[in-house]
Amino acid sequence: MSNVIKERKSVRTYQKKSLTEKDLLAVQKVVKAYNENKGFFGHEVKLQFFEKPFVDQESKIKIGTYGFITNPPSFIAGCVHNSFYGMVDYGYIFENMILALTEHKLSTVWIGGTFDRKTFDFMQKDHEIVPTITPVGYEDHDKSSKELDVREHIHADHREPFETLFFDDSLEKPLSESHQLAKILEYVRLAPSADNKQPWRVLVKRNNIHFYLHRTLAYQESLDFDVQAIDMGISLSHFIKGLEEQKMTYKVTNDYINVDLPELEYAFTVKLS
Ligand SMILES: Cc1cc2nc3c(=O)[nH]c(=O)nc-3n(C[C@H](O)[C@H](O)[C@H](O)COP(=O)(O)O)c2cc1C
Repeated sequence: MSNVIKERKSVRTYQKKSLTEKDLLAVQKVVKAYNENKGFFGHEVKLQFFEKPFVDQESKIKIGTYGFITNPPSFIAGCVHNSFYGMVDYGYIFENMILALTEHKLSTVWIGGTFDRKTFDFMQKDHEIVPTITPVGYEDHDKSSKELDVREHIHADHREPFETLFFDDSLEKPLSESHQLAKILEYVRLAPSADNKQPWRVLVKRNNIHFYLHRTLAYQESLDFDVQAIDMGISLSHFIKGLEEQKMTYKVTNDYINVDLPELEYAFTVKLS
């Protein structure tokens, strides 16, 4: 099991401490490596690092998080085309970046709902949006009571049982935990998602692994972008990490037809070769 996937968790309470010189360089390097990368569906993700918790250092315009985040030393924001597959690509690249930061022992949390998106208008062109940001810093193990409340409210440590997420050949048949892809799918199970809804459902049909979205409709009224498409991109990030660890080769497509299932929305297919 990849340690980085096990180690990553959302951190909302940070030590009152700026990034060390070494970590500052590491963050800059990670952001540079993922900035302007394109996902599997062709959308470029723009990333920007804010060394202090201000979008404008001179006039000290703060990156608002409505009090959920305590002592964030710095932030990263991302920007992408506002469409379903734009968000899938975004989730994939932003999560790859988060895992790279976790490897450097830096803490993060995906923030999609609780910040003032207008502050980032300057990053967005037509049809683009800044869907999420993340603080970057050092975890304060003495968590704020706000953080404890949030984690409890969304059952942040809970994950749905394996057999309710992953299926073998048909939705009637849960995938066995001894299946050759089970370990890799466990990486998907541990992925973060908005409100910890874990909306991914995966149907394994021999070499074709179809990913579906089990959608929560309420988001469509409250957000201007498809936050659960981001969750799908995150699940893809974790799945691909597992495939690459096992040196498996693959292609990602969304051109399958006749793979519709009741109550699930088709997202994409990973085809093993
Ligand atoms: C796309 C996305 C948006 C999120 N937005 C928020 C947010 O606005 N505020 C927040 O406190 N946590 C947010 N989270 C963090 C989730 O609540 C968290 O990942 C989930 O509860 C699982 O906990 P863990 O990350 O510690 O494993 C978001 C996560 C994702 C993937």
